[in-house]
Amino acid sequence: MDHEQKKSLVSYLRFAAAQPKGFTYRAKTTSAAVTTPTDGKSKKELLAALYANYAKCMACPLAEQGRSQVVFGVGNPNAQLMFIGEAPGRDEDLKGEPFIGRAGQLLTKIIEAMGLTREQVYISNVVKCRPPENRTPLPNERNTCKDLLLFKEIDIIKPKIICTLGAPSTQGLLGDEIRISEVRGTFREFRGIQVLPTFHPAYLLYNPSEKRTVWEDMQKIMARLTEL
Ligand code: URA
Repeated sequence: MDHEQKKSLVSYLRFAAAQPKGFTYRAKTTSAAVTTPTDGKSKKELLAALYANYAKCMACPLAEQGRSQVVFGVGNPNAQLMFIGEAPGRDEDLKGEPFIGRAGQLLTKIIEAMGLTREQVYISNVVKCRPPENRTPLPNERNTCKDLLLFKEIDIIKPKIICTLGAPSTQGLLGDEIRISEVRGTFREFRGIQVLPTFHPAYLLYNPSEKRTVWEDMQKIMARLTEL
């Protein structure tokens, strides 16, 4: 049993211990897999409950460094494909929606070129509050936020494929030692989910010649989605 399975098991045992006498857990499948208890709630409801808990999050220093609001993920809670960026910028901080500024508009075009819409995929960030001057989130900010929010979002949505955009989200999922130059365009795994790292759209704004590379990565994702 690996670390993640142990964590799921402990979480289930805690849940079971809190249930009234006579409670029986009805697993949906006959496999021995332990699933996170959902209390029969839809993914949309589970995400709403998660976000409600952190709307006024004070867990890391970004809470007091000028953010207007916590910017949670958006899109289809049942999405097969999830994009994860770095952190909200000024536009996102003001509007409360990820990827709506210049880089976001480019991401939207990429999604549409894949034959999808923003409403069909899920879009989130590894860090949910805007860092001052749009600096790169610090490791402690990233680690706090991914444990409290991102990993729970992923556990609820359970997409088939995650596309990490840029180094911070790639390292957030695959490990701090990972170099995006080494893993970009290759499928990796996080909690049994296929992860394909690619360049961040903000990088493409300054390096438009790499748009072709990102498009090749998106084609790999589209091909893999039809196989899964
Ligand atoms: N860059 C990101 O990584 N995320 C956003 O939401 C916007 C810009």
